[in-house]
Amino acid sequence: MSGGAGFIGSHLVDALRARGIHVTVLDDFSSGHLENLSAHEDDVKIIRGSVTDAGTCADAVADCDLVFHLASRVSVVESLERPELYRSICQDGTRCMLEAAEAAGVRRLVHAGSCSVYGDAPPPISEDAPTSPTSPYAAAKLRAEELCRAFARENRLETACPRFFNVYGPRQRADSPYAGVIAIFASMAARGEAPVIFGSGEQTRDFIHVSDVVGGLLQAAIAHEVGDGRAINLGSERPTSILELASLLGCDPPRHEPARKGEIMHSQADASLAKHLLGFRCLVDLKSGLKDRALTGSSDA
Ligand SMILES: NC(=O)c1ccc[n+]([C@@H]2O[C@H](COP(=O)([O-])OP(=O)(O)OC[C@H]3O[C@@H](n4cnc5c(N)ncnc54)[C@H](O)[C@@H]3O)[C@@H](O)[C@H]2O)c1
Repeated sequence: MSGGAGFIGSHLVDALRARGIHVTVLDDFSSGHLENLSAHEDDVKIIRGSVTDAGTCADAVADCDLVFHLASRVSVVESLERPELYRSICQDGTRCMLEAAEAAGVRRLVHAGSCSVYGDAPPPISEDAPTSPTSPYAAAKLRAEELCRAFARENRLETACPRFFNVYGPRQRADSPYAGVIAIFASMAARGEAPVIFGSGEQTRDFIHVSDVVGGLLQAAIAHEVGDGRAINLGSERPTSILELASLLGCDPPRHEPARKGEIMHSQADASLAKHLLGFRCLVDLKSGLKDRALTGSSDA
């Protein structure tokens, strides 16, 4: 697995190990942390390196039946400042992982896609909605998916491309300017600080708990019909405004700053395809998920 020391990747490692599956993690630890894998010190092989290095990818996928490819930089804002970095990690890195997986005879590669590829498509958003990336991050994630589909089309490797909406849960870090809004707000609420909202706060997001995303990823690895690289939305199908989120978290009245460039207004998944093909179910509703004390910004669950 690439990106296994990160927020979502480390939860996937937990789920795979709980099923007795051997795991190798390839991560450059640019945003991932060793403590996310502390429960697996003795039972997970860790390779420190980049997905943009072909030799490192080959080492990481050797003897693997399945590859989850989650390594990426994940910030829309940073991607506007460093588009080349995003292109390199998402496109070159995904190509390296695909080629290494093909050469090693891997059965399937599951790529972590993003709902950002839809841009400002009107909600609810199904996979049929036209893609319209509004940032270098979204554009790079879309090209990475297209590479996955090309490998499947050419019968080089099965690929699956789940597209996550806004994922939250324990281990999502709040101590970076690029962290997810829930981790940041939860941490501010715990400190009694007023949250900063960019724009009016009426923008909506589809928040999905990390355990539900992990469930979808595990299904995407085995479901028969999805090995052709098709996109599959993983979202809760419920829109929540940023103002509503701040209130649910018990934040102080927010401070508003100008809207950020590249930020989309509304996002809400139509996850019918995932329900149909993956048997996907969203088991954690937002109110219950937000009660988790581990959301307050620590990297430990
Ligand atoms: N968090 C979300 O809401 C969300 C939504 C849509 C898609 N995704 C996708 O899910 C995946 C995981 O995201 P996350 O939220 O867990 O972020 P994260 O930053 O916690 O995890 C990313 C991991 O990739 C590693 N990494 C980055 N560049 C690398 C490189 N060149 N080589 C090897 N490892 C590298 C990081 O160190 C980190 O461990 C990403 O592909 C992201 O695009 C996340």
